[in-house]
Amino acid sequence: MSHAFWYYVSVYVHLLSAVFWIGGMLFTVAVLVPASRHKALAQKRGTLFRLIGEKFSRISWILFIVLLVTGVTNLLGRGFTFQQLFTSSFWQGSMGYWLRPKLYLFGAVLVLSGIHDFYAGPKAARLMDNKPEDRKTRKFRIISSWVGRINFLLGLLILYYAMRLTRL
Ligand code: HEM
Repeated sequence: MSHAFWYYVSVYVHLLSAVFWIGGMLFTVAVLVPASRHKALAQKRGTLFRLIGEKFSRISWILFIVLLVTGVTNLLGRGFTFQQLFTSSFWQGSMGYWLRPKLYLFGAVLVLSGIHDFYAGPKAARLMDNKPEDRKTRKFRIISSWVGRINFLLGLLILYYAMRLTRL
């Protein structure tokens, strides 16, 4: 199989993972959250968020790993060597210029996703079913929804930098 073939596979899988992650967040904001406000789900909102949240969170972490690995293989496919990625001339070049902010944002996404998926989100979902009116419940709901929203915005920003780095 030719070198070009594997490069296209890498870019394709990279794009598909980005579509899946950003699409999942868009679906959450535009469909899931508004639909979950229906009165038929009043007592079950916590359970609903927990079930869907746990599933999507597991998928997201797999997607992050795939994005990282295919991100590096994209660079190799473009002709950069692994050693070059550790040189300052790479990061001073035009590819490095657009890749750097993308990687910083990706790092921030990993930190925020960790907080959201392993701490604030599960705690809010548990409290929503057990103590729906509690002040603590409100606090954790606000924290997880804001962390989720910021992550979504960072995802959209990453998309901008991804677009720029392929149009040098
Ligand atoms: C370690 C992390 C990442 C690295 C090293 C990386 C690297 C790259 C590289 C080198 C390309 C150019 C592919 C080509 O040769 O055409 C690319 C494209 C792209 N990346 Fe990433 N990426 C990373 C993470 C992400 C993340 C988290 C997203 C999520 C939105 C993302 C979305 C995209 C998209 C949409 C493109 C296609 C852009 C276009 O063709 O206009 N990447 N990435």
